[in-house]
Amino acid sequence: MVEGLAVVILAGGLSTRFKSKRSKLMHQLAGRPILGWVLEAVAALEPEQTIVVHGKHNTDIVEHFQGVDWALQPEPLGTADALLCGIPALGEGIDSIFLISGDSPLISSDTLGQAWLVAKAATGTTALVLTADTSDPAGYGRVIKNGYFVEKIVEHKDCTSRELEITEVNSGMYFLKLEDLENDLRAVGSHNASGEMYLTDVIGKRSGMIYKLNDFDEMLGINTRCDLAQAEAIIQKRITTQMMMDGVSFIRPEASYIEIGASVAPDTIIYPGSYVLGHSTIGEGCKIGPNTVVDDCVAGDDCTIIFSQLHRAKIGNRVKIGPYCNVRPDTVIEDDVKLGDFVEIKKTLVRKGAKIPHLSYVGDSEIGEKVNIGAGTITCNYDGFMKHPTIIEDGVFVGSNSTIIAPCRIGSGAYVAAGSVITQDVPDDDLAVGRGRQVNKKGYAKRIRKNLERRSADEKSGREMEGGS
Ligand code: UD1
Ligand code: CA
Repeated sequence: MVEGLAVVILAGGLSTRFKSKRSKLMHQLAGRPILGWVLEAVAALEPEQTIVVHGKHNTDIVEHFQGVDWALQPEPLGTADALLCGIPALGEGIDSIFLISGDSPLISSDTLGQAWLVAKAATGTTALVLTADTSDPAGYGRVIKNGYFVEKIVEHKDCTSRELEITEVNSGMYFLKLEDLENDLRAVGSHNASGEMYLTDVIGKRSGMIYKLNDFDEMLGINTRCDLAQAEAIIQKRITTQMMMDGVSFIRPEASYIEIGASVAPDTIIYPGSYVLGHSTIGEGCKIGPNTVVDDCVAGDDCTIIFSQLHRAKIGNRVKIGPYCNVRPDTVIEDDVKLGDFVEIKKTLVRKGAKIPHLSYVGDSEIGEKVNIGAGTITCNYDGFMKHPTIIEDGVFVGSNSTIIAPCRIGSGAYVAAGSVITQDVPDDDLAVGRGRQVNKKGYAKRIRKNLERRSADEKSGREMEGGS
């Protein structure tokens, strides 16, 4: 822990440009809320304390995040006022703060670590301002410099046409010494285009040094939905690049979506349109996609999952799933299983080597080893009030288009004849036939056809006579 250092995160603004009923900072990037990214990055500074200044309108962030101290800014009067509201929450012994906006999720821990080393060494200054060059500075405060020092920061709305041409912009991230800060903040006015108390006015008055970031992306602030999409693209690129460096192949990395909590082992290939979400873990040598969602699942090695979606399921090794398979929560699939096209499966254990190759619904079930479930099989697990289990033991063969009314147990080695409606348990090794017996009536079809042909000819000639009279 770094003694005397606190992090203050400003999150009290109204986020009007974002146009959301929810707090802007709860919106997600790669499966993690915007504020979560900031908290993750600043944790690397190992501060004594982390304070988040929030407003009355965004208590949802207070409910969501733990392990930080909260300070309320009663009215959003501007960034200087927000920091003023955070200062009383600072513990004794804090003499420096790192200030960052809650809407700057792309800053990296490494960059913050390096900037902190510079801030510590710059003993004669009371502020280190993190800046960056950008070809598109619109919306950002422009940094007016005197050598390595900040002369002033001018907000976009307040810039003269000459100032608008400046491409070095303020990140809204600063290391600040606490001495006299409170007095300086109280002295700030709001005579500017927004009528807000600008923190940047205080920074200009301090002997602020500049720390220029190499990469503007790191300071991207999320003000609008367009910024959110831009940040998502940058994060996706970071995640997929890291995975490729670690041995995962992407056919088109920009066409996949991987959340930050997911992990994929080497030699797996991710095809376009694939989403790997939540805390999914995918093993080695798998083929995922195209067009597949793997959400909070664990998959073993050498699996193929194509055009399918899987939610909260556990998959063994060498499993083949899809196309068009819907694997719903609490499903466990053991090694060498095949789930084929148009199969929906829910809360079911499928044991080794079993096959459900086509057009089936299997829910609340246990499917034994090497079971074969024929096309069109349905487990009727729901009576309108309760769910009931279906147990199909090892080696069972269920013929196509069978309907199994749960609760039901089909004993090991049993056969179910195709087209059966199974309403009772089936003992081991029995054949269950639950359908009407077939009867072939000799020449019956021919007789009916002749009859129908004659009637249709009579009706036709009757109509012609009526038409002629
Ligand atoms: C701010 C900086 C700008 C910088 C940019 C970088 C100021 C005046 N401007 O502009 O120089 O280039 O960030 O992204 O500081 N907030 C409060 N209470 C308020 C107002 C804002 O807590 O009353 C919080 C917001 O929730 C946000 C942060 O402060 O997290 C910055 O406010 P925002 O309105 O987004 O400032 P920018 O216009 O982006
Ligand atoms: Ca902002």
